[in-house]
Amino acid sequence: MIANVLDAENVQWLRDNLAQVRYVDGRQTAGREARLVKRNDQVDRADPLLARMQDLVTDRLLDHQLFRMAARPHLVRPPLFSRYEPGMAYGSHVDDAIMGGMRTDLSVTVFLSDPEDYDGGELVIESAAGEQDVKLAAGDAVVYPTTFLHRVAPVTKGERLAAVTWVRSVVRDAAKREMLFDLETARHALFERLGKTPELDLLAKTQSNLLRRWAED
Ligand code: NI
Repeated sequence: MIANVLDAENVQWLRDNLAQVRYVDGRQTAGREARLVKRNDQVDRADPLLARMQDLVTDRLLDHQLFRMAARPHLVRPPLFSRYEPGMAYGSHVDDAIMGGMRTDLSVTVFLSDPEDYDGGELVIESAAGEQDVKLAAGDAVVYPTTFLHRVAPVTKGERLAAVTWVRSVVRDAAKREMLFDLETARHALFERLGKTPELDLLAKTQSNLLRRWAED
């Protein structure tokens, strides 16, 4: 979970825009099989407000240190903005491996509605360890491997607004990304406690050399 990708002002600005834009049936951007289970509205690609909304979300994600550490983004797709009203849902599906010519390694959902403003609408991620229900505060994001099946539970009351996007990572393998993330986290904590020591230099060197070994650009 990545907290506070968007601040309250960002969220309000997006909601104001989302109240004015034109929506189309979300099935337009779903793959052949996902289309069968997708029931939501999405902002029309041709809407003149869309580009600035997309830029804001992308910029805020790329500004966020935890996102950069966890995702190691190489490319980020222009976000889609979705709206779920009562009765809408997105059944179990897997996202396309290639979108607009870009390999998708990570999926991102940025929540734009307050959780108390709608019932249902959890993002359910189906991993080998079981299902995880995700419903975050407005402005928070979840980042998960695009390799997982996932769904959006039916919204039964209120309105669920979210931005979703996909990342091609510099490091394709999730286990390798996790090792780099842990190393960097430990390195930052040690630096805070002890400053720049020779041992920290060795950790930094190892992290850097692993990244060099694993990075695809
Ligand atoms: Ni999906």
